[in-house]
Amino acid sequence: MKILITGGAGYIGSHVIKNLIQYENHELFVYDNLSTGKRKAILGGTFILGDLENREKLKKLFLKEKFDVVIHFAGSIIVPESVSNPILYYKNNVSNSVCLLKLCKEFKVNNFIFSSTASVYGIPEKGIANEETPLNPVNPYGRSKMIVEMMLKDFAYSNPSFKYCILRYFNVAGADPQGRIGQENLKSTHLIKRICEVASGKIDKLSIYGNNYNTFDGTCIRDFIHVEDLATAHIAALEYLSNGGSSNIFNVGYGKGSSVKEIIEVTEQKLNRAIKYDISERRPGDPPILISDNKKIKETINWTPQFDDIGSIVTSAYNWEKSLTIS
Ligand SMILES: NC(=O)c1ccc[n+]([C@@H]2O[C@H](COP(=O)([O-])OP(=O)(O)OC[C@H]3O[C@@H](n4cnc5c(N)ncnc54)[C@H](O)[C@@H]3O)[C@@H](O)[C@H]2O)c1
Repeated sequence: MKILITGGAGYIGSHVIKNLIQYENHELFVYDNLSTGKRKAILGGTFILGDLENREKLKKLFLKEKFDVVIHFAGSIIVPESVSNPILYYKNNVSNSVCLLKLCKEFKVNNFIFSSTASVYGIPEKGIANEETPLNPVNPYGRSKMIVEMMLKDFAYSNPSFKYCILRYFNVAGADPQGRIGQENLKSTHLIKRICEVASGKIDKLSIYGNNYNTFDGTCIRDFIHVEDLATAHIAALEYLSNGGSSNIFNVGYGKGSSVKEIIEVTEQKLNRAIKYDISERRPGDPPILISDNKKIKETINWTPQFDDIGSIVTSAYNWEKSLTIS
């Protein structure tokens, strides 16, 4: 299949490409403006430097390559930034997705995999969300993703040949176990990346945002998924669509949670060093607990996680972070 991968130079896209290049029957085209992604993270396929806003360039590419599938990672992803600059998020995440879908319609590209997020659930009542849990995002980032989800559903309804898979990622962490690629966005607010920055001496200490939540140790609980397992979920979603699977939405998480303090403790044990932290104010919109119900993905598509272990997530993330210090 000919696959267009938007945002493939980024953290998650580059891991999916690393997996996809093992399949000889796929031809990959990576379209990225390198705003946060890195050229060296793209381990295979044809790279095209371009912005999704550049409609002409994108159209020429669609015309030339006749894609079978689009995997759409490109977007802006920092929640606090979305609060201070919402227009950027509606432009990059929503308006650029409209453009992409228009081209899919014009060039009859009928398979689409979309990177969505657990943020679309907002603060679910019991802390566990399945795909039927009402969507109630609490920031512009989550809302921009929800709008694209709604648009995909409406578009597929109007155009029955078009099939989508929406993957709602939970807390993505870790890096390539062989150390070739990993999270490199300097603005990243991801907990495990921040802990690894402390562990590698890049920052002095971690801020824990609130220790008085109604959880067993007072800190927030999240469902951390290794980026390697997230990558193979995309391969399974691609297989599902190419085998005639109908449009669908899947949570991608392990279905269990770890608290912020637990992650710190595991890191301290694994790396045999203390992680300094302080306690800051709660951040508005942070749910106390956010865990996936992952029954649907496990029952519907051929996905078996291989790295469901906080220790290996933290170790791979730390090794990657250290390599960034050296380079
Ligand atoms: N990282 C997470 O924990 C997480 C969680 C849930 C959902 N997601 C979603 O997954 C996707 C990928 O996230 P990531 O962590 O790899 O982020 P990232 O910032 O590492 O990757 C995004 C990529 O898109 C590119 N890009 C951004 N805007 C572009 C544009 N207008 N034109 C062309 N390229 C553009 C960037 O250069 C980058 O390579 C995003 O859509 C994000 O919302 C990520």
